[in-house]
Amino acid sequence: MEVVQNIFVFLFLTNLRFVFNLNNNLARTPPMGWLSWERFECNTDCMNDPDNCIGERLVKTIADAMVEKGFRDAGYTYVTLDDCWPARERDKQGRLQPDPLRFPNGIKYLADYLHSKGLKLGLYEDIGTHTCAGFPGTQGHWKLDAQTYADWGVDMIKFDGCNSDVQHYDMGFPLMAKYLNQTGRQILYSCEWPLYERAHGVKPNYTAVAEACNTFRVYGDIYDARQSIMSVVNWYGENPGGFLNVSGPGHWSDGDMITLGNYGLSHSEERTQIGMWAIFASPLLMSVDIRTINDKSRRLLQHRGVLSISQDSLGIPGRRILNMENGAIQVWVRPLAPRGTFAIATIYTNTFGYPIKVSTKLSDLGLKNPNGYNVTEVFDGIHRGEFRSNHNYTRMVKPTDIDLVLAKVL
Ligand SMILES: *[C@@H]1O[C@H](CO)[C@@H](O)[C@H](O)[C@H]1NC(C)=O
Ligand SMILES: *[C@@H]1O[C@H](CO)[C@@H](O)[C@H](O)[C@H]1NC(C)=O
Ligand SMILES: *[C@@H]1O[C@H](CO)[C@@H](O)[C@H](O)[C@H]1NC(C)=O
Ligand SMILES: *[C@@H]1O[C@H](CO)[C@@H](O)[C@H](O)[C@H]1NC(C)=O
Ligand SMILES: *[C@@H]1O[C@H](CO)[C@@H](O)[C@H](O)[C@H]1NC(C)=O
Repeated sequence: MEVVQNIFVFLFLTNLRFVFNLNNNLARTPPMGWLSWERFECNTDCMNDPDNCIGERLVKTIADAMVEKGFRDAGYTYVTLDDCWPARERDKQGRLQPDPLRFPNGIKYLADYLHSKGLKLGLYEDIGTHTCAGFPGTQGHWKLDAQTYADWGVDMIKFDGCNSDVQHYDMGFPLMAKYLNQTGRQILYSCEWPLYERAHGVKPNYTAVAEACNTFRVYGDIYDARQSIMSVVNWYGENPGGFLNVSGPGHWSDGDMITLGNYGLSHSEERTQIGMWAIFASPLLMSVDIRTINDKSRRLLQHRGVLSISQDSLGIPGRRILNMENGAIQVWVRPLAPRGTFAIATIYTNTFGYPIKVSTKLSDLGLKNPNGYNVTEVFDGIHRGEFRSNHNYTRMVKPTDIDLVLAKVL
C-alpha cells in the first residue's frame, strides 16, 4: 500500500503522465448489461424499502428477471452495482468490504450467484479519497483494491472521479488499469476520466483514455428525460476532442445508461434513445427495474435489429452527417459489416406539430455505390425500396422520433 502511495506521489511531484495499454481482450463489441444508478441511486434504506435498496436482494432479483425475461439471452450480461455498495469503513486489513447488513453473504457470493446464471458482476469505485456518495475511495489502495475485486470474482469496474485532484486523473486511471491487469483476472474497466477532466477545464487526451479503458464516459450523468437524451445526442454530434475517433473494439465511448422503461420517456423517445446508442456504439447499460419493466420497452431493448447495429463486428461508431434546421433534423450514418452496409438514423427533435418529410440523396450521406441500395426500416422491418445513390431517399419522421433504416448495397 505504501509503495503504491509512493508511486502515486512520485508521479504527481514529477508531473508525469502514466501510460498503460489495457490489453485485456474484453469489450470487442459495446458491453451490454444493467447498472443500478439512474433508477436506484443511493437507496440504502433496506429497512423500509427492502426490494429496492442497494443490496444483495436487488442484485439477485434483477439477475433472475434478466434471465427470465430474455435479457441475458439478448446479450445483456453485466449486472453492475454503482455507488453505495461498500461499508463506511475498510476492514482491519484495509480491504474494501460491502455493507454487512445489505450484503449479508458478501460480494464473492453474489459473483458466484451471477456466474451460475451466465451473468457477470460489475462494481463501482472511485479514484479519490471517497466515492461521490462518501463511501471509501481507492486513493492509496489501488493495488489492494484491484486484487480484492479479482479475489471476489468481479468482472467489471466502473471507476469514478469524485474527491480527487484533477492532476491525479492522468496517472490514477491508467495506474488502476495496470493493477487490474496485474491481478491476471479479465476485468472490464469503465472510466469516468475524461468527463471529470472536462469538468475541471482540462482537455482530455482521448488517445490515452482509450488505451487504458474499455469504456469511457464522455458526457454528464444521464437522467430520465428527453432533454437529457438529446444533450448526449448533440454532444456526440459535435464530437468535441474527437472521442469518436478513438472509439472502437476494446475501448468504447460511453453515452451513459439506457433509461428505457422508467417514467420520463415516451415510446418515440425510447426508440430514439436505443436507436442512437446503437448508432454511437455506446455500451448498453439499462438502468430500470427489470422485474416490472413494461413489455413495450422490453421489446425495444431486446430488438434484434437494433442490437445487431449496436453489436456490429466492424466496430465503427456512427457520425452525424447532416444537421439541419438548427439541429431539429439530424441524419446519422454508421458503417456496418459486411462493408457496403449502413445504418441511417434520421431524428426529428421538435416536440410539436406533425411528421416531417426528409429527402436526402444517399450519396450526400456517403453511400455512393453505383448499384444502389436496398433500404429496410429496422424497428418494424418494412421494406422501403431500392434507391440509387444519386436519387432522393425520402422518409417521414414524427416529432421526437427516429427513422432507423439499414441500407444494403445491391
Ligand atoms: C495484461 O497485459 C498484458 C500485456 O498487454 C496482456 O498480454 C495480458 O493479457 C493482460 N492480462 C489481463 C488479465 O488482461
Ligand atoms: C496523448 O496520449 C498519447 C498516448 O499516450 C500520447 O502518445 C500523446 O503524446 C498524448 N498527447 C498529448 C498532447 O499529450
Ligand atoms: C476526428 O475525426 C474527424 C473526422 O474524421 C476530424 O475532422 C477531426 O479533426 C478528428 N479529431 C481529432 C481530435 O482527431
Ligand atoms: C430531392 O430533395 C431535395 C431536398 O429536399 C429537393 O429540393 C428536391 O426537389 C428533391 N428532388 C426530387 C426529384 O424530388
Ligand atoms: C431487399 O430487402 C428485402 C427485405 O427488406 C428483401 O426481402 C429483398 O429480397 C431485398 N431485395 C434485394 C434485391 O436484395
